[in-house]
Amino acid sequence: MSYQITMENKVAVVTGAAQGIGAAIASKYAEAGAQVVILDVCPKSCAEELLQKLSKYGKKAAYYLCDVSDSTAVAAVFAEVAHRYGRVDVLVNNAGVVADWDKSYAINAKGTYYCSEAAKPYLEKAEGTIIILTSASVFSGGTGIPQYVTTKAGSYALTLFLAREYAKAGIRVNGIAPAVIMSKMLVERFGSEEAAREHYKTVMPLGRMGEPEDIANIALFLACELSEYLCGEVLIADGGRMHIG
Ligand SMILES: NC(=O)c1ccc[n+]([C@@H]2O[C@H](COP(=O)([O-])OP(=O)(O)OC[C@H]3O[C@@H](n4cnc5c(N)ncnc54)[C@H](O)[C@@H]3O)[C@@H](O)[C@H]2O)c1
Repeated sequence: MSYQITMENKVAVVTGAAQGIGAAIASKYAEAGAQVVILDVCPKSCAEELLQKLSKYGKKAAYYLCDVSDSTAVAAVFAEVAHRYGRVDVLVNNAGVVADWDKSYAINAKGTYYCSEAAKPYLEKAEGTIIILTSASVFSGGTGIPQYVTTKAGSYALTLFLAREYAKAGIRVNGIAPAVIMSKMLVERFGSEEAAREHYKTVMPLGRMGEPEDIANIALFLACELSEYLCGEVLIADGGRMHIG
């Protein structure tokens, strides 16, 4: 028996998808046939290569310059997306930052809420789903960035709050809590991708650090019918570090 996951006829909005984990999720969804819509603060030129890659899967991805912490701009973008494509089926609240306290709260917590509220009427019509990127650091305390772990705990709590609230509207809300995924931040910390990979070979129970595609695979599962009985679940994607590391 073979089984194929398809997102044909679905419109998926991914925030903060110009690079990193968001770009991998956008790419995975486009490969599955979705119409992808990216919201990011980085000018479109940041994502030219990604947009070219996505178009090879058949549909031209849309790119909106939008700060998720600006509730007015967010509401306007979702109205525009719904008008342009007729529906919104999936929202991935991926945009996140390591910044000062106010900016971290504005983007990691409030931005997640603003996007979810703006998408809600369209997701309700489509019986859609929301995926929230929190962090495994909210369970461990993380290492040295209090404003990050605190505001990511906010997005974790929002996952539970919104799951309960939006279930009444037929919208499923789930989360992903990654740890140690290859990113610019880790490259800067270790000096190169190779040095980061080498370091985590011995530290991680699975013998490797995570790649953005590892998270994209989970985001695909959470966006499709295979996960339709999950609601308010946060999947810890840390290569086994928290439980067996
Ligand atoms: N990389 C990891 O190891 C890791 C671990 C745990 C959680 N996460 C979470 O996963 C998500 C993605 O992480 P990443 O490593 O790919 O980050 P990244 O820094 O590579 O990408 C974040 C993206 O968000 C965009 N962005 C920043 N502020 C924005 C705003 N106000 N509005 C819209 N877009 C904005 C950036 O321009 C960028 O494209 C984040 O929520 C992060 O907290 C990552």
